[in-house]
Amino acid sequence: MERLQRFGVSIEKTLLESFDGFILAHGFHNRSEAIRDLIREKLSKEKGFKSGQTMGTVTTIYNHHSRGLSERLTALQHDYQKLVLFTSHVHITHEYCMEVIVVRGEEKTLRELSARIGGQRGVLMALPSFFSIALQDA
Ligand code: NI
Repeated sequence: MERLQRFGVSIEKTLLESFDGFILAHGFHNRSEAIRDLIREKLSKEKGFKSGQTMGTVTTIYNHHSRGLSERLTALQHDYQKLVLFTSHVHITHEYCMEVIVVRGEEKTLRELSARIGGQRGVLMALPSFFSIALQDA
């Protein structure tokens, strides 16, 4: 195991009290262990973001009676087929459909796809929900 180094931390009294509560609630043995864990978690998320691995969904509500819309939405998903992992379709009412598109790729491109879907006439909503986390296999 790598040798541990010590460093001093200045912190407000109330923040430290909250932190001690957090340590108790999560079962850490001491402050050092908790701080190491929080730093690792934060850095891991940062790394995930930089690696460009973003995943998530674009939830779309649209009127399938809107002329040519279903075809346009399908064509758009084919344009971004490298990002689209799968699509589920729910017929909500006689007119309205919901599609949940599961995507993975570069966040910028995922947002571009979401915006293009949302910009189609007849689309009520295109709600992006993305996350970037570095996951390590054991
Ligand atoms: Ni439908």
